[in-house]
Amino acid sequence: MQITDNSTQTRRDEMSPNVLQVDLGTRSYPIHIGADIFAEAGRLLRAVYSGRRAFVVSNPTVASHHLAALRQGLAAEGVAIEVWQTPDGECAKNWEELYKILGWLLESRAERQTPLIALGGGVVGDLAGLAAALYQRGMPLIQVPTTLLAQVDSSVGGKTAVNHPLGKNMIGAFYQPQQVWIDTKTLSTLPSREYLSGLAEVVKYGAIRDRAFFAWLEENTEALLAREPQALNHVIYESCRNKAMIVAADEREMGERALLNLGHTFGHAIETALGYGQWLHGEAVAVGMVLAGRLSMKVCGFEKNEQQRLERLLAAFGLPLTCPALSLETWTTLMARDKKVANGKMRFVLLERLGQAVVRQDIEKEMLAQVLTQK
Ligand code: NAD
Ligand code: GLY
Repeated sequence: MQITDNSTQTRRDEMSPNVLQVDLGTRSYPIHIGADIFAEAGRLLRAVYSGRRAFVVSNPTVASHHLAALRQGLAAEGVAIEVWQTPDGECAKNWEELYKILGWLLESRAERQTPLIALGGGVVGDLAGLAAALYQRGMPLIQVPTTLLAQVDSSVGGKTAVNHPLGKNMIGAFYQPQQVWIDTKTLSTLPSREYLSGLAEVVKYGAIRDRAFFAWLEENTEALLAREPQALNHVIYESCRNKAMIVAADEREMGERALLNLGHTFGHAIETALGYGQWLHGEAVAVGMVLAGRLSMKVCGFEKNEQQRLERLLAAFGLPLTCPALSLETWTTLMARDKKVANGKMRFVLLERLGQAVVRQDIEKEMLAQVLTQK
């Protein structure tokens, strides 16, 4: 396996834990990445909290695998945890579950400075993150992501939300954590389909802003598929490094952060059309990136051989390249509901080349129709 490290801002060592910083002035925070971070949990927490009590939100699946190790790591510094478990799955990301967590915190007499630790995938992270933002106008949040998707994306950057019956992630807040703890060993229990889905978001970072990382992914597909510890460490570190830089430059998605949505306008339409849970988010994003690449070939000069590289890499990770046929009307209706629609115009993240993306708002309907109906 080859490691190319072009990081400029942090300490980097393949084998020992690594630390990245999300640079947001007084709200800056570290991301700790390593194979035994849970053993360090108590010590890490001491950097921001001197008390003996912490609250954990998780779900039964994650808790059964990983709660004991986290509890032990915190106990080493005399921190005892109280745990709330939400039901597993996207269905837990709603107002009622949020309200139950807030009620539990009140009944437990949680104080404003007591940390709330989100142990789980993106669902737990988004839900517990919003609870932390709301409880007494904000309690300290520690994100402890346990899926690849959450480790490379959702735990970093401060987006928290629950779903509304009228739309996904429609009720939320920007609320940055105080720390992110990524214990890569947690991935050993993650089902294969969930793991591969997370790799789609990893490919996205290479495609939008890091050509060298994209090439590294191409050269290390086997190590990644085998979840080799060094490869995992590297891929999570580089993904978080890219995300941290984007968030530091554009926390509230006024500009550059929108690039993180490569493939997502198409992907969200696929998830909605086929029903949430049928396709995992990363699977839909993979097809979305293929479609974004095809549109980019028509309007941005994205070269055919680059599109082929993108498709080859996604396929090597076992991700889908095509989705069941949807009518053009279904596509356009669903895509028009996207959060990126501005002034009634759809905005697309497109590729000029691998490693360089742009947001375009001037896509003609005919051009889009050609891509969506292309066999
Ligand atoms: P998820 O949280 O539902 O986790 C997927 C499944 O894996 C669940 O069944 C979970 O219980 C299980 N799981 C988690 N960790 C495990 C482990 N280590 N071992 C075994 N099983 C484990 O899904 P996800 O893909 O992590 O997150 C999807 C959510 O993230 C969506 O709600 C999406 O909207 C949100 N999201 C948020 C952001 C953001 O910036 N806040 C970004 C991307 C996605
Ligand atoms: N996952 C998209 C973002 O954090 O902006």
